[in-house]
Amino acid sequence: MPRKLANPFSTSSAMPSSEKAGERRPSTSKGNRISQFFSSSPKSKDHMSAQQALFAMQQQQQQQPTATQQQHQTQANGVPAGISPASTSLPIISLSTAVAGDHNSSEPPTTTLFRPKSAEEMEKNRRADSQFGPLCHSSHLYVSKSHGVPLEPPIEDEPPYYFLLTTYISYLLLILVGHICDFFGKRFGDKKHYDSLKVQNGYAPLNDDFDSFYTRRLKMRLDDCFARPTIGVPGRYITLMDRKSNDNNRSYQYTGTYTETLNMSSYNYLGFAQSDGPCADAVEECVRRYGVTSASPRADAGTTDLALEVEREIAAFVGKPDAMVFSMGYVTNASSFPALASKGCLIISDELNHASIRIGARLSNAVIQSFKHNDMYDLERVLRENISQGQPRTHRPWKKILVVVEGLYSMEGTMCDLPGILSLKQKYKFYLFVDEAHSIGALGPRGRSVCDYFGIDPAEVDILMGTLTKSFGANGGYIAADKHIIDKLRSTNASTQYGEAPSPCVLMQILASLKLITGELCPGQGEERLQRIAFNSRYLRLGLKRLGYIVYGHDDSPIIPIMLYNPGKMPAFSREMLKRNISVVVVGYPATPLISSRARFCVSAAHNKDDLDRLLAACNEVADVIQLKFSTGVAGGLAPLPAGVDVTPQQEKEWRRASGVPVTPPRWTVDDIVRCGVRDAKRPLR
Ligand SMILES: Cc1ncc(COP(=O)(O)O)c(C=O)c1O
Repeated sequence: MPRKLANPFSTSSAMPSSEKAGERRPSTSKGNRISQFFSSSPKSKDHMSAQQALFAMQQQQQQQPTATQQQHQTQANGVPAGISPASTSLPIISLSTAVAGDHNSSEPPTTTLFRPKSAEEMEKNRRADSQFGPLCHSSHLYVSKSHGVPLEPPIEDEPPYYFLLTTYISYLLLILVGHICDFFGKRFGDKKHYDSLKVQNGYAPLNDDFDSFYTRRLKMRLDDCFARPTIGVPGRYITLMDRKSNDNNRSYQYTGTYTETLNMSSYNYLGFAQSDGPCADAVEECVRRYGVTSASPRADAGTTDLALEVEREIAAFVGKPDAMVFSMGYVTNASSFPALASKGCLIISDELNHASIRIGARLSNAVIQSFKHNDMYDLERVLRENISQGQPRTHRPWKKILVVVEGLYSMEGTMCDLPGILSLKQKYKFYLFVDEAHSIGALGPRGRSVCDYFGIDPAEVDILMGTLTKSFGANGGYIAADKHIIDKLRSTNASTQYGEAPSPCVLMQILASLKLITGELCPGQGEERLQRIAFNSRYLRLGLKRLGYIVYGHDDSPIIPIMLYNPGKMPAFSREMLKRNISVVVVGYPATPLISSRARFCVSAAHNKDDLDRLLAACNEVADVIQLKFSTGVAGGLAPLPAGVDVTPQQEKEWRRASGVPVTPPRWTVDDIVRCGVRDAKRPLR
């Protein structure tokens, strides 16, 4: 593939140009560089802390309006919303040199009123846009919050039975062919590939288990769809290093070319994966002041002023008295459970909880029970059974019970039923641990996760865990809880004693992004990011349902899984999307049940409606090529109701029964989806 120097998405557009806001967001302005505040004088350089510098930058940022504010101003000035100042007045008027009004002068004017953007400026804007897309229109915003109705489990549509049948047959065939290949390969095949699977010099084969078989014989077939190497920032677009394989994905050759693709695969929820803007500037300056490493665990010399500040800010953000940061999200869970529970305790875990929770729970030596995903009846059943029976054999009461759930499930796109869990908590008196890896920053009107989304006081949840890898564009994890819990964690947690402390520049990224979200820095920008991701999530979900895809998850979730089922459709979907310059993640067994292979779109605030329309158009084409439109309509995406009928989605079922109007499978055209999407995405989705 040829090297794509220019952004492949920036020239063509589904939007009319009048709807585009091409103004550069203040975050990318070089005038905002935090370095100015660090390096104004040698003295100030020595004495100004990172916090002061951030504060100084904040004051400067406040003088510059955000994209939303600019839009409002533009509306107030009489220019239609959506036409950005940049698109209406690309050339810059130089007021200091303007001579147009000097009618008495006989000299021809020596200066021009208009100055086109320099190539450097244009390249900078292009790069910034490829990391964070400009907002197309001020109506493309939405506030993520619960509207008071109890959280219903999302309806899971089912494909026709022949789909399930062919999925099982595909796996059977793959396993059969794999075993036949292994049988002959071990006897007659290339030694290089099969020696490690055989007994050699009395040594048992190290790799001859099902994992090895699955990896070699099933995953290898679609390995080109996973772990595609990238360069640059994983923002709105992501640049892939082109590669090819001549030996069925055993090895790859790099062609030396690159392809810039629309990025639907990174957990860049709020779009903070940026190499320009206030966060990047703060991090750049932080590296100059602190270097990149703390060169020590937290318990020794790795506790910097930045670490303390970040912990204070996180605790305040999530609404807990204290917090602790870790250098890795996975380790946060893996090393915290042993400090929270031990022998004689009971951990009750949602069956779809992340691997880091499972490993942490196992390391704690507590007894582990699981309940059906997000099923409050099953959780109550497990609680009653275990409380009545007590500990195994002795039947003594449990020392304590800890229920562990995630705020937002990354494979399902479902939110935990926090109100339901809290009502059980009041009844059965267990501790509650909520992993907000995917929900922090991504849910709630202020981005403060599920408590914020449901309007619940965070004090009702005992332990709030989250990762800083996703919404904050950084790295690491945190635990926020009462002070005595955090004190215990600090003193007994393995990663504090033995693990490397978070890097200062990563801490600075967390700090800067947090301050942006709260509005302390660049007021309005954080709010806009939160509202963009909320709108984008609903718009894309509704569009995919209307196309006819089976879509999993709750309406406000920025994780949108679409079901593929058949294992052969995973590589087909991924490759077809790549042909259209779109990067997606496909997921199959063992991350999902065997028959539930899926593609998962991760929506970001960095995307704009143009991007989502392009994605919907591509999904429409690909669905026709590889047969993916099999929704029945029971899970939504339905055609509009007849004119004059005004019923809520809850009343609709009853109305259909009474008036004999059946549910018909939704198969909208892309044009219709684009036409009605903005309005309908803000109503209850049906
Ligand atoms: C629920 C959950 N917890 C913890 C983690 C681990 O976080 P990290 O990737 O930052 O190590 C993840 C990772 O995706 C996750 O989904």
